[in-house]
Amino acid sequence: MKHIAILTSGGDAPGMNAAVRAVTRKAIDAGLNVTGIEYAFRGIIEEAFIPLTKKDVKGIITRGGTILRTARFPEFKNIEIQKKAYHILQAHDIDCLVVIGGDGSMAGAKSLANLGMPTIVIPCTIDNDMAGTEYTLGFDTSVQTVLEAVTKIRDTSDSHERVAIVEVMGRHAGHIALQSALACGAEIVLVPEHPESLEVVCQRLYNTHKQGKQYSIIIVAEGAYSAYEVNEYIRAHTYFTPSVTVLGYIQRGGNPCATDSVWATKMGALAVDSILQGKINCLVGLVQGNLKTIPYSEVYQYPHQLNEDLYNLIGTLSS
Ligand code: ADP
Ligand code: F6P
Repeated sequence: MKHIAILTSGGDAPGMNAAVRAVTRKAIDAGLNVTGIEYAFRGIIEEAFIPLTKKDVKGIITRGGTILRTARFPEFKNIEIQKKAYHILQAHDIDCLVVIGGDGSMAGAKSLANLGMPTIVIPCTIDNDMAGTEYTLGFDTSVQTVLEAVTKIRDTSDSHERVAIVEVMGRHAGHIALQSALACGAEIVLVPEHPESLEVVCQRLYNTHKQGKQYSIIIVAEGAYSAYEVNEYIRAHTYFTPSVTVLGYIQRGGNPCATDSVWATKMGALAVDSILQGKINCLVGLVQGNLKTIPYSEVYQYPHQLNEDLYNLIGTLSS
């Protein structure tokens, strides 16, 4: 291994830059050449290749976003596009490709590995929904962003004695919603892993009201319901007139928190060490609190499911 390339792919997440920095500097320190590829897998096809030096990654560890940009490129599911990418990487003498992204990006990395291009994946998505790891970079920063927003919303809900519905990201998973609900003491959390009927939600609002709590915070994961859908149902079936806030893309930005910067640095360093040891075609994952490399073929053995006990705890503590 003399020459590695790095790309960031899928939804951007705080910590991506810290991971790019760690991979770049650790690799250069080990005597490798490093190339950055802009615009994710699309950038391979467009040959958006830039040499990276230690200086190029100066001052980025605390910055959100990604200096390599990212892109959604569904065309990469096409085998012919994958083969074209493989040959381009070969032509650039790339020995191994480091992919920093979520589960879709890992699928892209696997497809290149199947064609013979060594790859390694650093898990990075605010959704925290990847098999093979208990943690994906960006998650803690995103939850902190939600907590800060909901804390502000709670003030106005309390002042107006009004129910607040807050929609958070997470794609098909409820990890952001659950962790945020725990952190802010939400009364109700709606996640796709636990389909709750809106009729039951209304009943719980009445129960909370009868207990003298004049307002409730409902956190809804986008994979469960849309906040507007919940709002319409509540207004049609109760006397409550909730406020609606869809947090959207602020959950994807911001400077990474310490956890994300530190994990990104550790994961980036382990990715390079693994490459140097010839351990490729694997995910750098956190398993039972330990960082390790898991071959792509084995990540399914470590599904990252929602914590049932934590989900039930929210109901217990809010009633
Ligand atoms: P994330 O990596 O955050 O899950 P996406 O699901 O958009 O984000 O995946 C990122 C990119 O990975 C996609 O834009 C596409 O280029 C590539 N990709 C996703 N799924 C596959 C797949 N099944 N096969 C090959 N490439 C894929
Ligand atoms: O995967 C990260 C994520 O922010 C999801 O939580 C969300 O559903 C999706 O990306 C939004 O996708 P896009 O950035 O393409 O709008």
